Amino acid sequence: MQFKHDGLNLYYEVSGPEQAPPVLLIHGFPVSGEMWHPICELLKTELRLINPDLRGLGRSEASDEASMSTYVDDCVALLDAIGETRPVTVMGLSMGGYLAFEFFRRARTRLRALILADTRGNPDSEEGRKGRITTAEKVLCEGSQVVADAMIAKVFAKSAPADLRSHWLKVMRRSNPKGVAAALRAMANRADSTLTYSRIDVPTLILVGDEDVITPPEDSRIMHDAIKGSRLVMIPGAGHLAPTERPEPVAAAVNAFMKSL
Ligand code: MLT
Repeated sequence: MQFKHDGLNLYYEVSGPEQAPPVLLIHGFPVSGEMWHPICELLKTELRLINPDLRGLGRSEASDEASMSTYVDDCVALLDAIGETRPVTVMGLSMGGYLAFEFFRRARTRLRALILADTRGNPDSEEGRKGRITTAEKVLCEGSQVVADAMIAKVFAKSAPADLRSHWLKVMRRSNPKGVAAALRAMANRADSTLTYSRIDVPTLILVGDEDVITPPEDSRIMHDAIKGSRLVMIPGAGHLAPTERPEPVAAAVNAFMKSL
């Protein structure tokens, strides 16, 4: 389905019973809401799953620029558009986690709980920031395969099946270069969310694949130590895209957490 916000057509999916607890799923970079499909299948009888494609990614229209706050504003506008007035649990993976922190800072009253998956609060180093800006320019000239080809070796566990890798390589290569470049610049300019850890006052679940090399388990342990009352669940045999690679243990952890609220 689509809705219009800030002059853009933005795509989303909603599944699960209307009265079930709402979970806003925020995907990582440079993919789309499709990455949640395996866990949506497993959770759709228990939860109301709201699954947008962020602007410029998946089937959503791109703007020249984006930021963590414009993405969050799009998500809040989506909640308004579908009439979801209850506070939602925000589950963000990686870049989606960067947005989850921004959601906490910007829209706390709309938030019931956080699920931080394969993510971290640290901003980029100066070198990392410059690298993203250069990559953004390259993507605009040469296409999204610049990012896709560099990332694919890092997003799954060593034992991941070849067809999973080839599918996600295709998805990443197909991403809209304008949206990918805008997301790279948005990530480069994101705030230091480690400063937010001690302020988080909602129930928080932290999930991480034990073979995640992009946001390694150590980052999750640091978040777990700093976010009061948080739970940490390690997903065995999973890399960075844990929900696509090992949907069953991820869905089980989400379900148990949601039932505890
Ligand atoms: C992601 O999966 O969203 C990205 O790896 C995040 C990043 O590049 O920092």
